[in-house]
Amino acid sequence: MNNQANNHFHFAGQDMVKLAGTYGTPLYVVSEDLIRQRCRQVKTDFLDQYPGSRAAYASKAFLSMAMCRIIESEGLCLDVVSGGELYTAVQAGFPMERVIFHGNNKSLEELEMAVSHRVGRVVVDHPEEIDMLEAVAAAAGAAMTIQLRVVPEVEGKTHRHIMTGQKDTKFGIPLAPAIIEAAVKKAMESPHLDLAGFHFHIGSNLFEQEVYVAAVERVMTLCRQLQESLGLTVRELNTGGGYGIQYTTEDSPHPASYYTDAIMETVSACADRLKLPVPQVTIEPGRWIVGEAGITLYTVGAVKTIPGVRTYVSVDGGLPDNIRPALYGAVYGAVVANKMDQPCSETVTVAGKCCETGDILIWDLKTPPLERGDVLAVLSTGAYNESMANNYNRLPRPAVVLLTGDQARLMVDRETREDLLMRERRAAEIANGSL
Ligand code: LLP
Repeated sequence: MNNQANNHFHFAGQDMVKLAGTYGTPLYVVSEDLIRQRCRQVKTDFLDQYPGSRAAYASKAFLSMAMCRIIESEGLCLDVVSGGELYTAVQAGFPMERVIFHGNNKSLEELEMAVSHRVGRVVVDHPEEIDMLEAVAAAAGAAMTIQLRVVPEVEGKTHRHIMTGQKDTKFGIPLAPAIIEAAVKKAMESPHLDLAGFHFHIGSNLFEQEVYVAAVERVMTLCRQLQESLGLTVRELNTGGGYGIQYTTEDSPHPASYYTDAIMETVSACADRLKLPVPQVTIEPGRWIVGEAGITLYTVGAVKTIPGVRTYVSVDGGLPDNIRPALYGAVYGAVVANKMDQPCSETVTVAGKCCETGDILIWDLKTPPLERGDVLAVLSTGAYNESMANNYNRLPRPAVVLLTGDQARLMVDRETREDLLMRERRAAEIANGSL
């Protein structure tokens, strides 16, 4: 710790006020050490305990080429959900046999890309996709290993936008016997596809193991039925991600082993009871790996008090760099990075700078008295912040700085105003007045 500035907030051992000064704000800050710690917990508490199991980082939570390198060197697999995520992994030199390709509406071009790179697993979302992938694999002379995504029909307690395990969902193949049997039969008969097993994903930011237990029981029962009816041997069970994290002091997160131990116990008990071979289990945490490893730094601007109502403290970012409060009512914690020695005597509402009433980052945050120039650090923004960033109001997206030990390195440039015009094809005509 740097004792020179006791009143400064330190994250991953570094002074965040200094960092804001060096790189400007708003700024995403990501700690490589914290990401690696989480990867290692998955390794020691899950992969080492259950040989043959696999863990994939769900890259939709946060992806960059540097992130691919970190995940690669920790020995994890990578879950991608689009040609864009796959392209990033390819460019970063991520081993393709460790890639799991997801998506409820993969295009033909994306399937061709997955096949041409021979990704390790394609998770097929609907029966028609089996035909599409078989045709693409046949044309390329490739053999592809697939998992079929099924709907476990369980409801995780979370925001309804991020629930996926319930019967009424756009993801996966419904459990209706006629539909699932036809899909499995088709996959088994596809000469270029090897059906290794099933995938489910219940939802995101879940804090209970019971839903995983229920989903595993459901899908293992399905395996037994399909063994009887079609002679299918299920070698793999992919149980998705969804492990919750700490956003505020109200949250009580669990280690990943809380979920994985329950999953593995249920898998083995079901295999015993149903007389099935124990499948290899895959998990796909995204938020749990990176969420708490990231924070966002902002600079305070306008401070406005409405007497008897509330004080709005506006910062230089907001909804475009963190859409989660507006989209899911997500709640975040924050500290005033340059006033860590002062008591939190006030209650303020942190507003973004967008022309949008819903652009509130945090309601009723306890802080010391705030003024223009203060640095606010919003915590646990490592997952689904940068990856969901947008340019509403033509605000350039923030830079990303990676902290490693006592080093800070720019990982992604701050977007410029010129960047915002990069795809404007008529700039020259507009400049010379011909348009
Ligand atoms: N596997 C599959 C198939 C998924 O669909 C997801 C997330 C994950 C793994 C990783 O879930 P995690 O461990 O990160 O919860 N934008 C939302 C989250 C959407 C998650 C979608 N799928 C948010 O900001 O909360």
